[in-house]
Amino acid sequence: MKKKAIALLLILIMIIQTSGCEKAESEKTKTLRVGVVLYASDDKFINALTSIMKELFQRRESEDLKIVMSVKNGANDQRAENDVVDEMMDAGCDILVVNLVDRTAPSKIINLARENNVPVIFFNREPVKEDLMQWDKMYYVGCDSAQSGEIQGKLAADMIKQDFSKYDKNGDGKIQYVMLEGEAGHQDAILRTDYSVETLKAEGIKLEKISYQFADWSRAQAENKMQQIISKYGDTVELVLANNDEMALGAIEAYEKADISLDRRPLIYGIDGLDDALSAIKKGTLQGTVYNDKEEQARNIVNLAIDLYKGNSLSSYNIQDGKYLMSEYQRVDISNVDDFIN
Ligand code: GAL
Ligand code: CA
Repeated sequence: MKKKAIALLLILIMIIQTSGCEKAESEKTKTLRVGVVLYASDDKFINALTSIMKELFQRRESEDLKIVMSVKNGANDQRAENDVVDEMMDAGCDILVVNLVDRTAPSKIINLARENNVPVIFFNREPVKEDLMQWDKMYYVGCDSAQSGEIQGKLAADMIKQDFSKYDKNGDGKIQYVMLEGEAGHQDAILRTDYSVETLKAEGIKLEKISYQFADWSRAQAENKMQQIISKYGDTVELVLANNDEMALGAIEAYEKADISLDRRPLIYGIDGLDDALSAIKKGTLQGTVYNDKEEQARNIVNLAIDLYKGNSLSSYNIQDGKYLMSEYQRVDISNVDDFIN
């Protein structure tokens, strides 16, 4: 009887101890809730960057850190995006990662973040500096847009200079070109367009603009615009500069459908270095692109989010003006495209 009672007591003590233990462990495990808000749901580059982010956050999970990343989007409407952020704050969020719809209208999101004391990492769609300066817990992860324009212009200039008479198909001493622009007001559309053209000119190439068209980063829209240009100008276009790869691929598609053979097509350049563009370079339908380092930008966002959450020092980061974490663009053409195909 006595023995049984002692054994029972021991078991009881063990149960209490183990459950106590478990409790202490779960208290040690923290959960980082990251709210990611994209400007739209269907942007190829943004979605590629976001999946890398997701994978990197998963890899950073450990026994004492659980990471929950939730992804929502603003359906291309700044007010809808503000509402999404509002809901995220209500549901509980430790770090906000924001890809603005309208990069000139971040005030509502900034106010929500400040009220809730939630640090914000903006990415890809760059707020103006005055807005970023409004609060010390805001950062921007991105690239120098002007640099991508410069590299694109240089890629095209180098090719054209190799054999000017071949690319100046009508022999008038000028290169007739079409510009396919991203969205009006986007820093990448404005600066890529400017710097690409200015670099070509600085390289001594005389240009004649045939058409400027906005195609909102979209392959389908670019194909449509290019189809109209082809029906108006036939195969007289000598160069197509697109603010991103998707639009360059749309232009290629328009030439395919118009049944214009490769040797009668213009030189075509994009920006981003996504898989479809890299294979187009391999095929020879796209002459070059500019690599938009999604891996590094995702890594910067993830590292920064975790360090901000933990309250770690940011002294190892190369943060410019206390706000900007920037990546380098890289030149891609047939000579090095294999380095980018993994
Ligand atoms: C650019 C990118 C485009 C598009 C845009 C969205 O950096 O080159 O393809 O994703 O961002 O903001
Ligand atoms: Ca010409």
